[in-house]
Amino acid sequence: TVSPDFIKGLPKAELHVHIEGTLEPELLFELAKRNSIHLKYPSIEALREAYSFTKLQDFLDIYYAGANVLQTEQDFYDLTWAYLKKAQMEGIVHAEIFFDPQTHTARGIQFETVINGISKALEDGREKLGISAKLIMCFLRHLVELSAFRTLEDALPYKDQIVGVGLDSSERGNPPSKFTDVFAAARREGFKLVAHAGEEGTEAYVREAIDLLKVDRIDHGNASIQDDHLVDALNERRMPLTLCPLSNKALHVIQNMEEHPLKKMLHKGLLVTVNSDDPAYFGGYINANFQAVADALLLNKEEVAQLARNSFHGSFLSDDEKACFL
Ligand code: HPA
Ligand code: ZN
Repeated sequence: TVSPDFIKGLPKAELHVHIEGTLEPELLFELAKRNSIHLKYPSIEALREAYSFTKLQDFLDIYYAGANVLQTEQDFYDLTWAYLKKAQMEGIVHAEIFFDPQTHTARGIQFETVINGISKALEDGREKLGISAKLIMCFLRHLVELSAFRTLEDALPYKDQIVGVGLDSSERGNPPSKFTDVFAAARREGFKLVAHAGEEGTEAYVREAIDLLKVDRIDHGNASIQDDHLVDALNERRMPLTLCPLSNKALHVIQNMEEHPLKKMLHKGLLVTVNSDDPAYFGGYINANFQAVADALLLNKEEVAQLARNSFHGSFLSDDEKACFL
């Protein structure tokens, strides 16, 4: 068995966390009050009780509703700062953080409001907490590609603050192929590319993310294990996969932790990492995710340490920066 202290003590990079998914019920209620927004839940406890999901869409509905309380630059700052303080306690030294601009611009919040609030917190995180951080802007795949193109346009003035673009939201019925052109445009602008694939979707979506979107990293990718040729293709490219065990359990991608593919993937040589996805909704931050797989899959210390090292190898840090952490 691997102890909580061992996991906490390992320096880690978090590569798959949605900033909107770190909005804890306490802060959600505080921001609702600050912005005079009526919530349909009478209490923090009642809201938490609603966090019982059977599939990805159940979660997304409640996650987008929760994001409505985010209105001002200060709100985005407070959200991001709360995550960074948590991250520091977890032994995270570098974080590559997703945000969903369309969730906010569709409500009339300016792109500028969102990015300025987040970026100021990241700057304070570097100075006051010693946490290195990068931002990845995700396109919502349930929306049309034209909306993603508009979002890419919005982002261009802030290019120096955004390392890459990603793809999230409702996977089934919204394959990577829907976003081939906007990913090509993002690549021409110099952005790194990632995409959620093979979470609820099949291994064919992982294939498309690699072949059509030409991603540098796959988010989730659980379904990859279904196809030996795909596993070979991922290994040839040293493609990082950002696994999120507690998310998979909460969204019934797996029925129990013992069936999580992480250990098999690790033993097939895949560059797998452990991440928290939407920790305020799925019941745990990064260390709880490490502990859950270590316990259920009987990982030894060396395997757990490998997962932590993989997080730096799979990151968008430069080789020199990686060398500082490894
Ligand atoms: N999958 C898809 N979209 C998301 C997720 C996820 O796990 N979290 C936030 N948006
Ligand atoms: Zn995710």
